[in-house]
Amino acid sequence: MAEQRHQSEHTLRAGMVGMGMIFDETYRPFFEAVSRQPLFDPLFGPCSVALSAVATRTGSRAEAYRKQAPAGVSSFASFHGPKSVEQTLAGGVDLVCVATPDDRHFEAAKLALGAGKHVLIEKPAVLTLQELDELDALARRQRVLVKVVYHKLLDPDHKRLRTLYADDVLQHVNNGYCSLLEPKSISGSQFAEWIKGRNPGTYVAVHYIKLIDFTFELRLKRITCTGQRGIVGPSDGNTWDSTQLRLVYAYADGREAAFDIHTSWVTPDNFPGYVEQEVQFRFDNGVWNGHSRKRGVECTVEGLTPTKLKITMNNHYNGSFLEPWGERSQRGYGTEVIERFMREVAAVEFGGPASERDQRLQAARSLAYNDVSADRQVVAAVQAMEAILERHAAGRPDCVVHVNDPAGGLVLRPPGVGEAEVLYKGTA
Ligand SMILES: NC(=O)c1ccc[n+]([C@@H]2O[C@H](COP(=O)([O-])OP(=O)(O)OC[C@H]3O[C@@H](n4cnc5c(N)ncnc54)[C@H](O)[C@@H]3O)[C@@H](O)[C@H]2O)c1
Repeated sequence: MAEQRHQSEHTLRAGMVGMGMIFDETYRPFFEAVSRQPLFDPLFGPCSVALSAVATRTGSRAEAYRKQAPAGVSSFASFHGPKSVEQTLAGGVDLVCVATPDDRHFEAAKLALGAGKHVLIEKPAVLTLQELDELDALARRQRVLVKVVYHKLLDPDHKRLRTLYADDVLQHVNNGYCSLLEPKSISGSQFAEWIKGRNPGTYVAVHYIKLIDFTFELRLKRITCTGQRGIVGPSDGNTWDSTQLRLVYAYADGREAAFDIHTSWVTPDNFPGYVEQEVQFRFDNGVWNGHSRKRGVECTVEGLTPTKLKITMNNHYNGSFLEPWGERSQRGYGTEVIERFMREVAAVEFGGPASERDQRLQAARSLAYNDVSADRQVVAAVQAMEAILERHAAGRPDCVVHVNDPAGGLVLRPPGVGEAEVLYKGTA
């Protein structure tokens, strides 16, 4: 029986670059679940997905995982050090997932696309529009997919928001705010190796930039940002504790909409939610309030909450469950988004005759929720935010970046008199 269950006509061999926190929360449960039950779709039939090879900085997380991984997943090849991505690619994989720190996505993705592999990148995919253009062109040349993970788009609350907006129940968004606050342990220990020169906005505001961009489909016009320093790094340095980003968008008729996105990675570790996420959007005819950790559950256990077990837990993202039918599972929108990508690759490769592969590729590319080519305004906002913070750290706070201005696609203007800098020439 067991053997029969594992027989699949097709297999996708996955390479994993980076095995940190997000691997543990989403990729690991995905690979473990799919090792028990292959993907199935009438279009491509059963399709196994195997974790074939991994690349990490030191190899220690890969070995730690191998020790505890279930038998069906533990036989991956592990490479570490500066050539580990090339070695992973040489081993023969069909697709690569990139989950390294965000300023190390581009190189790994470029190598994988250059080798003709489909690529999935953690958010933010890249930090500049120049990098986005390069990856998108390379993927088109190689006839493969390059996609980015924004799992919050699959959060049922955000799907509902988008549905009500698409159906014109909530009409014409005018403004709103989002906040995502991470605990100190993230900046202090989990990310200590790579946090220098980084900011929590690039790390987590992107979730909400994408939510706004994808849900409301407006044209980005201006970006401003400020932030605080002094806890993670020196008060006059370029490592940020918290950031406040403002995005102004325009409708075709000239009306504007503005959104403030506040982020931090220095919230106390014993904060009840551990991660705090809140949004409010105001429309011509309504208001949407969302709080991702106050969805109804509050649980206290002596000695466990709030550090080992969360008091207000997000069971939609990634919960461990004893299913009613007796099975143990770990699932939620965090793993669902990875499974969707694997299904898209399987549909391209196995979903019909080879002569129609290009049409299937085109169909997968047209999915704006995850295709890198549809991520231009999000990457533009990230690039602008990083440039504004860099100027701030160099003693010139309060710059504004204008989008698709007569001088260029992304134009940074300092306050008062001062020369504008074109961050990106083409259309953003
Ligand atoms: N979707 C989400 O909500 C979410 C949540 C957390 C992190 N992330 C994203 O995932 C990525 C990784 O974050 P994390 O929290 O897992 O970080 P982490 O610091 O916990 O892990 C990083 C991993 O990358 C590896 N690595 C670092 N440099 C490397 C290199 N040059 N080559 C190969 N491997 C390298 C490290 O060995 C480690 O395994 C980031 O882009 C982050 O934004 C996404």
